[in-house]
Amino acid sequence: MLHSAVTRTPPAPRPLADLAEWESRARLMVKARRYDHVVRVADLAYQIARANRLDADRAYLAGILHDIARDLPDSELLRLAPPEVPIDAAHPLALHGRAARTLLERWGYRDEVVLRAVEDHTTGPRSACSVSACVYVADVSEPGRGVNQHIRELAMVDLEGALALAISSKVHYLQARGIPVHPRTLSAYQGLQERGALPPSA
Ligand SMILES: [Fe+2]
Ligand SMILES: [Fe+2]
Repeated sequence: MLHSAVTRTPPAPRPLADLAEWESRARLMVKARRYDHVVRVADLAYQIARANRLDADRAYLAGILHDIARDLPDSELLRLAPPEVPIDAAHPLALHGRAARTLLERWGYRDEVVLRAVEDHTTGPRSACSVSACVYVADVSEPGRGVNQHIRELAMVDLEGALALAISSKVHYLQARGIPVHPRTLSAYQGLQERGALPPSA
């Protein structure tokens, strides 16, 4: 079921008008429990975007689409998102954001705001006040995870602050365990430092 959805190339619905079509397509791509997470992320991304006067419809759609490649095997992820840096080859699961973008482009999807949010949800958004940031924060703090309620609540009043918490806790978690941090995540972290949302490194 999952693989046939990858290889077929159905006509592309329009970006926002055919939301039901995108929802059913996303549902086909993931396991049932994953789709429950996907809907929670989309709902929360919508709320965060509205609270921060960002494009809530695009945040919702990006939430629906963000994990369409999450349940694909490593071999498929590597084919859809060829490694750009050594960490990509070592941890193919982290490629599922970029692989999802590739899939959407192959299906004819062209909305760059949504594509970027889907691509960047694994490694961190390139802009702190963006649809990408809404989806990233929603993904790590949706209620079903049972953690990060403080990030979820902060995002309603201070998206950049919530993003800083989410990115910094990921970076510090990995560094404390000697696990390499993806260059894109480090870049997001440094961007937040430059904006004063995070303290400079010691
Ligand atoms: Fe994901
Ligand atoms: Fe997710």
